[in-house]
Amino acid sequence: MCGIVAYIGPKQATEVLLDGLKRLEYRGYDSAGIAVLNGPIGTQDSGRAGESVIARCQGKLDRLVRSVAEDPPRGHLGIGHTRWATHGRPSDENAHPHKFGRVAVVHNGIIENFVALRDRLSTVGHVFQSETDTEILAHLIDAELHAGADPFAAVRQALRHVEGVYALAVLIDGVHDRFFCARKDAPLVLGRGDGEQFAASDIPSVLPHTREVIFLEDGDVAEVRSDGCTITDLAGTMQRRAAKTITWSAAMAEKGGYKHFMLKEIFEQPSAVTDTLRGRVHPVSGKVTLDGIQISFADLQRIYLVACGTSYHAALVGKFLIEGLARITVEVDLASEFRYRNPLIGKGDLLVAISQSGETADTMAAVREAKGKGARVMAVTNVIDSSIARAADATFYTHAGPEIGVASTKAFTTQLTALLLLALAAGRETKALSAERAEGLLKELMTIPHQMKRIIDQVRTLQDLAHRYADASDWLYLGRGVNYPIALEGALKLKEISYIHAEGYPAGEMKHGPIALINEQMPVVILAPKGPGYEKVMSNLQEVRARAGKVIAIATEGDSVVADAADAVFFIPDVAPPFQPLLTVLPLQLLAYYVADAKGTDVDQPRNLAKSVTVE
Ligand code: AGP
Repeated sequence: MCGIVAYIGPKQATEVLLDGLKRLEYRGYDSAGIAVLNGPIGTQDSGRAGESVIARCQGKLDRLVRSVAEDPPRGHLGIGHTRWATHGRPSDENAHPHKFGRVAVVHNGIIENFVALRDRLSTVGHVFQSETDTEILAHLIDAELHAGADPFAAVRQALRHVEGVYALAVLIDGVHDRFFCARKDAPLVLGRGDGEQFAASDIPSVLPHTREVIFLEDGDVAEVRSDGCTITDLAGTMQRRAAKTITWSAAMAEKGGYKHFMLKEIFEQPSAVTDTLRGRVHPVSGKVTLDGIQISFADLQRIYLVACGTSYHAALVGKFLIEGLARITVEVDLASEFRYRNPLIGKGDLLVAISQSGETADTMAAVREAKGKGARVMAVTNVIDSSIARAADATFYTHAGPEIGVASTKAFTTQLTALLLLALAAGRETKALSAERAEGLLKELMTIPHQMKRIIDQVRTLQDLAHRYADASDWLYLGRGVNYPIALEGALKLKEISYIHAEGYPAGEMKHGPIALINEQMPVVILAPKGPGYEKVMSNLQEVRARAGKVIAIATEGDSVVADAADAVFFIPDVAPPFQPLLTVLPLQLLAYYVADAKGTDVDQPRNLAKSVTVE
């Protein structure tokens, strides 16, 4: 999605803005731009005193950097933007910032009534330069200024005409000492520095400067000066927002020496799972605590797990975990489908919205649907104070740290961890899980990060395996039971970063169709750890071999039967079935990564994809 940055302070704004946009590149974009208000803070400088200078273009950020290298816009106040097109094709004219009259604006979201607003303003002489919905914001604010409103009031009053989703930042010519920003259903965070202030769509942009942040709430409008900010609602009523301290270091949001963010994040998974367990697991007592979240699982009719993409695969695993350990009925839905099937969710049900970003529009819509039908909502998300976290009745945070790579890895395994904790806590409360069994499972759960590390340390084996099959054009992934969702996830990882066609299937479905696909060029990844369904999976493996398919098996350490039957085998430690997905997914992530790396695709920002899909 689009990325926004804004700055006011003693530094040259151009440098701060371009660096901030660089740290938002992962959000996916097709254009970039900045606007800088020239003149030192508080005084009029020579030249075009008090007017914002705009530089913007289609394409990658490097093109914008080159375009200003000779003569960078000068000034201590500015806004910047990376655009992911929603209205109007990617072009220089449609790139942000958009300016009309005295007002320059950058925006993330969708102005749903922009056509009606544009038509209305056109009748009074406004001329529009772009195809975007965003440009209407500059016109609306400028019109309020002309009507005599002060700058802060002009922004508020303009936004009252707007329907839709927005996070925005605004410069106003002649107003040297402030920028303005606002949010509704799209993320925006303020960074508090010493004599300087920042705004950004996401934390990595402000981290190099400060860890003190303020998360704006929906409906907030802020006037930001170098020494602080004033926040009101659209009516002008003051709002108090407490600052939070982000523990993520700037380094965490950088690559840390890895070739790609995705590889760094794959390697971070043992510590991410450890961080997600911390303070919530008490093996001796067999207890699990959910950060004080009060949910009476025993009274629940049903739990709905709703998500998109990789988070949906986590939800599918969650069904096995919660039904297996807590014996509560679980329904799993794709968020993009949920609200269109008139779901029977209601009072007495719990909807768990799983979302790494906490901003996925379809998942947010499912939350609204559930709340509208009287259900309670819990969010499982990785981003504090994200929109879905704010909309939920309770939030159970994963502690994966910033996940920059578009392909989700550590967020996924920490989601599995959160769902495990949920299932264990629920099982203890419904008495479906005895204290003794819970104690045993918790003790084993505490060893899982170490087991994950043992797998990831075998990265060379997976790199070799990837290179062996990197030229295949079609892959099939098979799994049963709790590993069936991992087959789906393995296929998604491969297709989204290497652009190779791959399908995940329940192994038992082979004979109902996919077996017709098998040929000697096709790698078939089969999840065959010891456990429920093992024998059946072994039959599937033989069926594939009998048709000359190339079997890459993920098996339990020491299983020579699988090793003899497969073309290639990767061993994982022997763990209880509820913990297997945390291990079986790892070789599939690394396999996908090294195939994509061998193909030279843009692993961290695959084509057409965005890290957070904030449009439906
Ligand atoms: C996963 O690798 C993809 N990037 C994508 O499927 C992602 O999981 C999906 O868009 C959901 O995102 P969320 O978890 O932030 O809601």
